[in-house]
Amino acid sequence: MALGAVARDGAPAEAVQCQQASADTAATADADASGWRIDCLRQQYQGKPGQWPRPWIDDGVPWQELAPVPPAQPPATAAEQARLILGTALFHDPGLSGKGAVSCATCHQAVRSFTDGLPLAVGEDRLMGKRRSQPLFAAPFAPLLFWDGRAASLEEQARGPIENPLEMNSSLEKARAYIASVPQYQQWAEAAFGSDGMADDEWLSAIASFVRVLRPASTAADAAIAGDTQALDDAQLLGLHLFRTKARCMNCHHGALLTDNRFHNIGLSFFGRRNQDLGRFEHTRDPADLGTFRTPSLRGVAQAGPWMHNGIFPNLSGIVRMYNAGMGNMERGNTTDDPLTPVKSPHIQELNLTDEEIKALVAWLEVL
Ligand code: HEC
Ligand code: HEC
Repeated sequence: MALGAVARDGAPAEAVQCQQASADTAATADADASGWRIDCLRQQYQGKPGQWPRPWIDDGVPWQELAPVPPAQPPATAAEQARLILGTALFHDPGLSGKGAVSCATCHQAVRSFTDGLPLAVGEDRLMGKRRSQPLFAAPFAPLLFWDGRAASLEEQARGPIENPLEMNSSLEKARAYIASVPQYQQWAEAAFGSDGMADDEWLSAIASFVRVLRPASTAADAAIAGDTQALDDAQLLGLHLFRTKARCMNCHHGALLTDNRFHNIGLSFFGRRNQDLGRFEHTRDPADLGTFRTPSLRGVAQAGPWMHNGIFPNLSGIVRMYNAGMGNMERGNTTDDPLTPVKSPHIQELNLTDEEIKALVAWLEVL
């Protein structure tokens, strides 16, 4: 099947030749424990992503090549600069919440790729939400926000947590009154919007301007994507190759941010169980959206755990093992004849990765 995928996609056959058939691994001096000849891979991964072996992509998937993350635009005017400073302060200010206890940064911490390290978000009064805090690196580029795509702009998104009783438990009115009570905010607001007092869409736009400039730290993966694959050790390089080919990850995790920003059911809706979450369907009520969630960016993913919309995976190797098994059959539920049974994406398949290959894929994820 794997070979067929290469041929169908017109990928160069050489990449396949870097792998030893298991029978002659022992006889081949330069194959490592994984059964791959790393020198051969190094040769194929010279230069930039467009010159690398083509990824294995299913028919009809509008994929994009790996690419550098577009840099943030610095503020162009003094007013934009003041708006960004104001937004940065507001993002970190618990004064915006009902009881002054929770800020955006409580749940979106820079050192954790802007998540909070918890399986499910915990808001004011320790109330627990039903999804995990999202990492924010995809947010500046995503046409639809949240796990289920229910917000269409960062400005619209920002009011959500402020008004959500399970998050910041406040109201726009209360937050606006608080902001008006801080003299420093009034100074920045005047520089940013040229008026005293601020309309809700103005301070919400200030918060959005902060989220818009968030970027992941640069890593060895960025060096590789810029053309220097020597920055990757052997395991990371093999992981990159598997990510593109045998492990099929690039069907959904592609482009600069390693996300297609689309919605897929990878089999985690817990249909028919206590933790059921039907994802985008709960917003659109379109049966095609049953159990689908937006593909997360994998930039900074090692720092973002526990993973998935419900934080059920405490480690990355568990995730890769689950993908390897085709994500199991958790979508069956009790009632297979229920017309609203979520259907797993056809891009999720059993992968037949070896233990060494699973380790290599994790090594690549850890360097993103
Ligand atoms: C109590 C924890 C909590 C607080 C406080 C919080 N968030 Fe979130 N944030 C979440 C959760 C949970 C999600 C995912 C919700 C969902 O998809 O249903 C999320 C999603 C987001 C997203 C969407 C990311 C994407 O790629 O779609 C952005 C942007 C965001 N939050 C910014 C903010 C801002 C700005 C604030 C402050 C105004 C804030 N958050 C406050 C928990 C929190
Ligand atoms: C069919 C599209 C698709 C394919 C193929 C795919 N993913 Fe995903 N991935 C997703 C979606 C959608 C989610 C979020 C699902 C959820 O939370 O329910 C996700 C989540 C993840 C997460 C958790 C990220 C986080 O912040 O929670 C990791 C890690 C991950 N994928 C890695 C991989 C790897 C490695 C591969 C290849 C073996 C892969 N994915 C293949 C769509 C895909």
